[in-house]
Amino acid sequence: MDGVKAQFPLFQHHPELVYLDNAATTQKPQAVIDGISTFYEKSNANIHRGIYRLAAEADQQYEAVRQKVASFLHAPDAQHIIFTSGTTASINLVAQSFLANRLQPGDEVLISAMEHHANLIPWQQLCRLKNARLRIIPLTKDFQLDMKAFREMLHPRVKLLAVTHISNVLGTHNPVQEMISMAHKQEIPVLLDAAQSAVYGELDMQQLEVDFCAFSAHKMLGPTGVGVLYAREKWLAEMQPVVFGGDMIKAVSFEESTFAEAPRRLEAGTANIAGVIGLGHAIDFLNQFEKGKIRRHAEALGQIAQEKLLTINGLQIMGPQEQAKAVISFCMKSIHPHDIATFLDDAGIAIRAGHHCAQPLMAWLGVAATSRISFSLYNEASDIDRLIAALKEIHRFFA
Ligand SMILES: Cc1ncc(COP(=O)(O)O)c(C=O)c1O
Repeated sequence: MDGVKAQFPLFQHHPELVYLDNAATTQKPQAVIDGISTFYEKSNANIHRGIYRLAAEADQQYEAVRQKVASFLHAPDAQHIIFTSGTTASINLVAQSFLANRLQPGDEVLISAMEHHANLIPWQQLCRLKNARLRIIPLTKDFQLDMKAFREMLHPRVKLLAVTHISNVLGTHNPVQEMISMAHKQEIPVLLDAAQSAVYGELDMQQLEVDFCAFSAHKMLGPTGVGVLYAREKWLAEMQPVVFGGDMIKAVSFEESTFAEAPRRLEAGTANIAGVIGLGHAIDFLNQFEKGKIRRHAEALGQIAQEKLLTINGLQIMGPQEQAKAVISFCMKSIHPHDIATFLDDAGIAIRAGHHCAQPLMAWLGVAATSRISFSLYNEASDIDRLIAALKEIHRFFA
């Protein structure tokens, strides 16, 4: 990863910063920042409506990103890609435009005990509305999904399985390929929350045969306010619009309206055009690296960090210890995670402390909050040395 960090201007403005909050959002390379401002400087026009050349060019650039996302995901066609404002919006869209029309009283939706609130509350609220049941795949003592319990929970009343690929708290990498094929044997569609895994560029929709896949541009070097929902062909026609307005219609009268085909009918209103262009540049940036390289780099740093963290007295890692992971949560005996994060901030190290939008998981862990570090492609071994030195100082200070 030599020379990669120099391509992220934030680190030139903050040369001493150790940024370990990549699970919350990643920094942006110059190419993404330039791509967005070049669009505004040279190509700005609204899409899907203008006849003039500039508008046609904006259209072409926007739709080229849809194609780029499809290739990035190995999706069979660009029409399977719906642009949203982020993972949260993508998951809510599946809840409202797909599952709301299918879910009957007594039906079940299956999620896991390690979900982010974004992959929990939309299902919880929908189940409440429909008198359906939200069921939770439990975890084992070693922070993995309990696959035996999962197998027993699969039955025809389950109308959707929604599961995270990589936990944003524990770092657990779930066996999603196996879970999807188990769910499909019972004809249960599966939504994959790929917020934490999309950055690795290893998602393959055709190999996974997943029904829906949601992720955010901002966690994969792109801008905030843009996300993707991939939907499998057999469900696209079923997905009803839930936001109505411009850019999603076939014909409108005062009496009735007919709607465009998907994905257009699911993208009402002016899109975040520059944001989508930025996502395209982020994908180009990620595509420079050989498959698996970014993940291996982040996981190798995670492995070193974990070994060194465990040398600190009273420090406990909340996550699987045998699995290589780029996201590590930990607790230090008698020291509040907020104190840890504040102390580290004074040392120029940015980490996340809190419940990580996973309060039920915190309850299962028996804590109110954890400290979390997460690595990306621009992190270096020296970041870990700075972190460990500062944590040792915190330990001495509070001892
Ligand atoms: C696993 C997971 N799912 C969903 C989300 C929500 O993403 P966003 O806030 O970009 O919609 C996050 C963000 O932290 C996440 O880590």
